[in-house]
Amino acid sequence: MVQAIGIDVGGTLTKVAFFEHNQQLKLLHFPSVDLHIVSEWITSYKEDIQIGLTGGRAEQLKTFLRSHENLQYLVEFDATIAGVNYQLKKDNHEFTDAVITNIGTGTSIHSLKGTEHERIAGTGIGGGTLLGMSALMTGIHQFDEIVELSALGSRSEVDMLVSDIYFGNKTPIDGGLTASNFGDAGLRPLMERSKEDVLATVQGLVGEVISTLSIQCAFAEDIEHIVYIGSTLANNEPLQKIIGNYTKRKKRTPIFLTDNGYSGAIGALLSKIDGK
Ligand SMILES: Nc1ncnc2c1ncn2[C@@H]1O[C@H](COP(=O)(O)OP(=O)(O)OP(=O)(O)O)[C@@H](O)[C@H]1O
Ligand SMILES: [Mg+2]
Repeated sequence: MVQAIGIDVGGTLTKVAFFEHNQQLKLLHFPSVDLHIVSEWITSYKEDIQIGLTGGRAEQLKTFLRSHENLQYLVEFDATIAGVNYQLKKDNHEFTDAVITNIGTGTSIHSLKGTEHERIAGTGIGGGTLLGMSALMTGIHQFDEIVELSALGSRSEVDMLVSDIYFGNKTPIDGGLTASNFGDAGLRPLMERSKEDVLATVQGLVGEVISTLSIQCAFAEDIEHIVYIGSTLANNEPLQKIIGNYTKRKKRTPIFLTDNGYSGAIGALLSKIDGK
């Protein structure tokens, strides 16, 4: 019998976490545009289920669940960090201090030092940017398709590298770094670029902005590990590669969790189970 569920109602996706009969952690997601589907799914449980609710659109889901008595709201950042701590243990990571970068619709950056956590930065560049720019530039708006096609593309004819600017001369910084995301497209606008190349470049822009900011935060806080979470990373190997490589290049350690997008939902679930 399922006794408790954790729900994270985000700007794009609603994530649900619960333990099944065999104590296996079960994770599901729904689009947040259809909150009545989520509420129908919840009310399909006849049992007197306990619900931990978090996320920016939690209040909106609450209006669908008025009759539900065992509902508790949790502050999004607290739930997310509790979930991250649980996932780090589950994935056998042992460090206690980290920068946590949550790449949701937008991106939120936190410092975790032992049991203390604080939101330290953020940017509007996030998963919503990946979907939005991809849709506008290629007409493709399915996340899975964007990821799949981007893996086949190349950024070399769209981005401008430091080495492109110095044109064979000695570069003052690593020539392989991006000098200007999409910079080549502006200077050579008539050249044909495939959808795959454009999508790969959007992933590059999103990944590099987010990792650059996260790395700056890690330097400022003197923290080695950066844990990148959020559904934008889910089955998104190209983005993980961009972020992972850049983070390593800057001598910080990138960590990707097994279930990227579910930290908030897991944290909300744990609050009901631990009886906090
Ligand atoms: N099935 C999917 N449908 C839509 N977007 C998806 C899907 N899977 C992954 N994504 C990506 O995940 C992003 C949303 O991530 P996440 O669920 O962590 O954010 P959120 O919690 O909804 O937003 P926020 O925390 O900013 O309120 C989308 O913007 C998109 O890039
Ligand atoms: Mg979220």
